[in-house]
Amino acid sequence: MSKIAVLGYGVVGSGTVELFYKNKDKFNKKIGKDLDIKYILEIRDFSDSPYASKFTKNIDDILNDDEVTIVAEVMGGVTFAYDYVKKCLEHGKTVVTSNKELVAKKGAELLKIAKEKGCNFLFEASTGGAIPIIRPLHQCLAANDITAIAGILNGTTNFILTKMINEQMSFEDALAMAQKLGYAERDPAADVEGHDACRKICILASLAFGKHVYPDWVYCEGITKLTLEDVKYAENWGGAVKLIGSVKKCADGKILPMVRPAFVCANNQLSHISDVFNGIMVYGDAVDEVMFYGRGAGKLPTASAIVADIIDAAKMEGTSVSQTWEDSADNSFIADYKDDVVSVYVRVKGVSKDKVSEVFGNVEYLSRENQPSDELAFVTEAMPERSFDEKLASLGGEVLGKIRVLELE
Ligand code: HSE
Repeated sequence: MSKIAVLGYGVVGSGTVELFYKNKDKFNKKIGKDLDIKYILEIRDFSDSPYASKFTKNIDDILNDDEVTIVAEVMGGVTFAYDYVKKCLEHGKTVVTSNKELVAKKGAELLKIAKEKGCNFLFEASTGGAIPIIRPLHQCLAANDITAIAGILNGTTNFILTKMINEQMSFEDALAMAQKLGYAERDPAADVEGHDACRKICILASLAFGKHVYPDWVYCEGITKLTLEDVKYAENWGGAVKLIGSVKKCADGKILPMVRPAFVCANNQLSHISDVFNGIMVYGDAVDEVMFYGRGAGKLPTASAIVADIIDAAKMEGTSVSQTWEDSADNSFIADYKDDVVSVYVRVKGVSKDKVSEVFGNVEYLSRENQPSDELAFVTEAMPERSFDEKLASLGGEVLGKIRVLELE
């Protein structure tokens, strides 16, 4: 009988315990095992909980109990989580986690320990919430040479953008609602500044390209500078603004991961993904493109991926077969985003069309309701971002907005 310990009893932890006991009999029967949760590690007091007898404040209870073979880390953060996960793996216990920060910052090291100790380190819940994406990338798409991945990887920001666009809700109100619904990070700056999406694209890039991509190496821009005017111009252009995390293989063999708001054309399915949903496109030489879609955050959707990893861990007991990648000593395999060839949307005040033509040549002008007479909005032709920056610096006027157009090829 495999005993399980759950580290943390916040939104995802309590969802994991709830879902586990709701469907335990069904999945135990299917896998022919008798899985049960023995411990819940939590510093807060839950003596009124129906699971009160399982709570402990001491990680050693778990580490020293040989009956516990699977540990679900759902605490978040890196400091304690890293220490506990590392110790659990060193004790030969399989760890499953929803902690994207931990996987993005320490994944290579933890995967190596798991291999050495003959156990597994699983993290389906770290990216895309309920969406199966880690296992499909590692297993179902393993025959492909992956050329690019692009996705809406943060439920909170997509929820905020949807509320702002469809209901004219303010940024602050939409964020407060996302927090109440349990979508946002403890510090929601991680959502709105793009760091959460950055951690997730690092995980996907490491998995797809086989080398650890550290978040510090990735260009990352969030949604805090976006305005409703930009959203209106995107609609007029024929698409929507979305926070996109992407990685693509460049002609020189390097990879380019990045996170930024992007104009996404209406014929790209990512432009239609609303609310807390995430969508992830994977491009490969055999499959062409596949898309993954589902709830990207929330208590039970994330618990679904955690409990699935627990079930898989029980099935794989005694083997070490989880996904893996190499650590990387430096970032020489990461391309400079300034060399990327992009079209860019620009919103500017106090500049003539003649000046725009002189600086940028051909552009596509956009319009919106109540557009002030001294405001221009346009999309440039594709050029290296470095050249775009030089041109924009010579345009003059006041630049009110600047958003890249999503192009993966
Ligand atoms: N804050 C994250 C999001 C939670 O909104 O996507 C799920 O990783």
